[in-house]
Amino acid sequence: MMARIEAPTPAAIDRAVDLLRAGELVAFPTETVYGLGADAANPDAVRRIFLAKGRPADHPVIVHLHNVGDIALWTRSMPEAAKKLAAAFWPGPLTLILPRASRVADIVTGGQDSVGLRVPSHPVARALLAAFGGGIAAPSANRFGRISPTTARHVADDLGDAVASILDGGACAVGIESTIVAFAGEVPILLRPGGIGGPALSRALGQPLREADGSAPRASGTLASHYAPRTPASLVAADVLRAELLQLGDRDEIVAVLARTVARPAGFAGVWLPAPFDAPSYAHDLYANLRTLDAANADVILVETVPDGDEWLAVRDRLLRATRGVDDDRD
Ligand code: TXA
Ligand code: MG
Repeated sequence: MMARIEAPTPAAIDRAVDLLRAGELVAFPTETVYGLGADAANPDAVRRIFLAKGRPADHPVIVHLHNVGDIALWTRSMPEAAKKLAAAFWPGPLTLILPRASRVADIVTGGQDSVGLRVPSHPVARALLAAFGGGIAAPSANRFGRISPTTARHVADDLGDAVASILDGGACAVGIESTIVAFAGEVPILLRPGGIGGPALSRALGQPLREADGSAPRASGTLASHYAPRTPASLVAADVLRAELLQLGDRDEIVAVLARTVARPAGFAGVWLPAPFDAPSYAHDLYANLRTLDAANADVILVETVPDGDEWLAVRDRLLRATRGVDDDRD
C-alpha cells in the first residue's frame, strides 16, 4: 500500500493523530527536513520507525514536543545553559541532548542515559503536536544511509509503503537537519552543526561551544558517510572542477555537477545544477539537488566546494559526508 500524500487540513491532522495513537507511523514536515513520526510513549510504535528505515535499534531518535514546558516530562534536569538555548531558539531547528527522565523508553534513547528533545517551528509540525498532545519520536524520514527528505515526494519515494500518511507541508525552509547540542554537566558541546549557526549559539550562551570529541555522547548521524548519494561523489575546488571539465572530452564518463561559482562550459553533455550562492539558499536546495544529481545515473558526481567560515559550517559538514564512503552507519 502506498502512503497517501495529504494536504495538512484539520481533517488530515486529526487522521494523523488517530494513526499515531494506534501505533502507526506518520511522516510530517518540519522546518529542517521531514520526520518519520511515532508516538514517543509507545515503544512498539517507535520500533516500527527502525524497521521502516532499516536503522539499527541502538541509534537514538529525537522526541519532538509542542512546548518548552513539556520537556519536564522527558528530562530529569535542565542545565542553565540548556535553558538559555531553549529560550533563544525554540521553537526552531535546535535539538538538545539532556539527561533522560526514567519514563523515556530505551528504544527512544538507544539505551543511553540521555534523550534528544526538539520543539520544531513548522506550522504543520506544531499543529500535529498540539492535536496529538504527547511527544512524537521522529528521525529524518529517509531510509538508513540515504539523503534526508525535504519534500513530501522525497518521503514517498523512500518510504512510501512503510508509512500510513505523509502530511505535505511543501519544501522545508531550512533544508538541513537541526543543530544538536549535548551537555556534559553545564558545558555545551556541538554534536551536529545545523539549522542554527555556532555564532548565534555562542551569543545566546555567552560562552563558546565545545566541538564534539571522542568523549561526547554518541550521535550516530554524525558518522562520516551519512547523507550519501548512491553515485560516487567528490568535492572539488573551483579550479580543479574547471580543469576536470576541460578533460572530459578525453573520457567516456557521464558527469553530474553541482556548481556554485563555476559556469557551465559550452558543449558540456552531463547534468549541470547551479547551486544558490548564499548559504541559507544553498542549504535549502542541497538535498533536493543531491537527489536530482543521483537520479541522473551519472558515473560520478562533482560538487564544487563552498566557502570557509561559520555560516557554511553545516553545509560543509553535509557535503563532506555526502562525498565520503557509502556503506557504514547512517541515520
Ligand atoms: O532536524 C532534525 O533534527 C530532524 C527533524 C525530523 O527533526 N531529525 C533528525 O533525526 O535529523 P535523525 O534521527 O535523522 O538524526 C538525529 C541524530 C542522530 O544522529 C541520533 O543519533 C542523534 O541525533 N541523537 C538522538 N538522540 C540522541 C542522544 N540521546 N544522544 C546522542 N545523540 C542522539
Ligand atoms: Mg537522519
